Amino acid sequence: MIIGDQIRLRAIEKEDLPSFVKWLNDPEVRRGLELIMPLSLAEEEEWFTNMLKRSPFEHPLAIEIQPDLKKEDWIFVGNCGFIGIDWQNRLAEMGIHIGEKAYWNQGFGTKALLLLMKHGFKNLNLHRLWLRVFETNQRAIRSYEKAGFTLEGKYREAQYLEGKYVDVMIMSVLRTEWQDT
Ligand SMILES: CC(C)(COP(=O)(O)OP(=O)(O)OC[C@H]1O[C@@H](n2cnc3c(N)ncnc32)[C@H](O)[C@@H]1OP(=O)(O)O)[C@@H](O)C(=O)NCCC(=O)NCCS
Repeated sequence: MIIGDQIRLRAIEKEDLPSFVKWLNDPEVRRGLELIMPLSLAEEEEWFTNMLKRSPFEHPLAIEIQPDLKKEDWIFVGNCGFIGIDWQNRLAEMGIHIGEKAYWNQGFGTKALLLLMKHGFKNLNLHRLWLRVFETNQRAIRSYEKAGFTLEGKYREAQYLEGKYVDVMIMSVLRTEWQDT
């Protein structure tokens, strides 16, 4: 378990899969992700089986939040993780989704990112973290800016989304720029 401020990151269990299927079939959630076709539980179970064969450092982690500090209740809301860790150059791509929309815009996405960044820089000794985000996903862009990511470029019209081409923004943060919180 990786524990932060009102956030904890834990391993994904098979029991979590129905929640992912529900969230990843929600058009508002998947709008920011590279998902087009509806997702079945069987497909998600196959994803889970294949995921377990990858390096443990690249296993996505379940995000749990503690909305009320006075209570010990933790709520499972989404996942985040590293994709394609390059150990020679010490860099990794990051990904995140919070499926429980009731908890959007309350700072939990940024807190989860900050916790994962801390894990990447302090435990895995990574040097550069980067991510891709559609230009239309302003909530995500704002969250990444708050976490310390800066825009470094874009792939022009690289994603066909809901009837039009949109730019894919590349954002990154270096360990030397990162503020430990
Ligand atoms: C992207 C995501 C992880 C952000 O998590 P979150 O908990 O909602 O983010 P936060 O509350 O930490 O920050 C969101 C910020 O965006 C702002 N925001 C929301 N909608 C906005 C909009 N349309 N335009 C500009 N800013 C917006 C919020 O006000 C907040 O900024 P503030 O704290 O300065 O007020 C979450 O919304 C999510 O999982 N979305 C669906 C999946 C997805 O798009 N994943 C990212 C793929 S790259």
